[in-house]
Amino acid sequence: MIIPFNKVYNSGKEESYIIDAYRSGRHCGNHQYCNKVVSLMKKKHGFNEVFLVPSGTAALEMGAVLADIKPGDEVILPSYTFSSTVNAVILFGAIPVFCEIEKETMNIDASKIEALITPKTKMIVPIDYAGVSCEIDKIMQIAEKHNLIVMQDCAQSYGSYYKNKACGTQAHLAAFSFHETKNFNAGEGGALVVNKDEWLQRAHFIQEKGTDRRLVLKGVKSKYSWVDKGSSYLLSDILAAMLLAQLESEDEMKSLRSNITKAYQELFFNYEKDGFVSTFKISEDIKINHHAFWVIFDTKENAELFMAGLREKSIYAYIGYIPLHSAPKGLEYGYKKEDLSLTEDLGNRIVRLPFYTELGEIGLDYCVQEMEIQLNKIYN
Ligand SMILES: Cc1ncc(COP(=O)(O)O)c(C=O)c1O
Repeated sequence: MIIPFNKVYNSGKEESYIIDAYRSGRHCGNHQYCNKVVSLMKKKHGFNEVFLVPSGTAALEMGAVLADIKPGDEVILPSYTFSSTVNAVILFGAIPVFCEIEKETMNIDASKIEALITPKTKMIVPIDYAGVSCEIDKIMQIAEKHNLIVMQDCAQSYGSYYKNKACGTQAHLAAFSFHETKNFNAGEGGALVVNKDEWLQRAHFIQEKGTDRRLVLKGVKSKYSWVDKGSSYLLSDILAAMLLAQLESEDEMKSLRSNITKAYQELFFNYEKDGFVSTFKISEDIKINHHAFWVIFDTKENAELFMAGLREKSIYAYIGYIPLHSAPKGLEYGYKKEDLSLTEDLGNRIVRLPFYTELGEIGLDYCVQEMEIQLNKIYN
């Protein structure tokens, strides 16, 4: 049996929706399926306004345009994230200021943010690693005190909650990914949630190549013109059709994925008790979407042994991110590995386990059994 790291899931309705979108003859953005996805997202999770975009990366970039990120602005973010989080701001000339993470969640350590704020700080971009919400309440309090913008990178946390509020509803801006590696797959796709009403009109302009085309579609104007900076931040209706099928099955998919979290938690419980590994610890305030599962091993060597042993059994686990501050581009900003020693250390010892919806139905027992064999080889 082969257990890949990730696998796309078919909820059953994708094909018929895609064909319907195709046959409608309207394939560009903001048509019927886009509208259906936006309504569903707002109804299900209470988002203020949703802009469907071509990727999570595009959502972050559109958010940076909307936040008017300019050369010399400083943006605080964790180093333990994907390149898109930082690229979205350096593309517009901002300086990344990397903050340490907390070992319980691998998310930004909110208690370390204030020390990094300078008169040049414009924005904070926390992420929700593995679908676990960052401490968004604390981050919003800091932002309010210092008049900063918060754009939450929710690429992995669609359907997660913090204090009974969906991830992406509390920050000024939130970026979601619907890449095939995420819980809900449009192939490539994303969404920018805009929670500041006064930014909505501009967000429409920016999404539509800096034009007021939306006002023409609404019948307010007869001709559209160039009114702002912008780009083509639109998701095709054909991809939105696929996404709708996935999002309509959120509860069933979440339930299957929860079987995986439970099985992995049970497997690692004793090894954690004995101090060999650690897994995520979340407060009662957080409800997870079961996006991913990670384990921090006691040593890098044991993490590698575990992955190699699994690979021999055709089970594919991987290391997580390479921290950004010590990556080649991070070094160009003057960072050294030891500047964020906790991030560096955890990043060396983390392993992400196979996690995809179908695994909640097929292959989980085999996967867990083989993992237990490897753990016993290493630790007994
Ligand atoms: C934290 C984070 N931000 C942004 C992205 C980018 O999303 P996309 O692949 O949809 O562009 C990812 C994708 O893996 C991610 O994990």
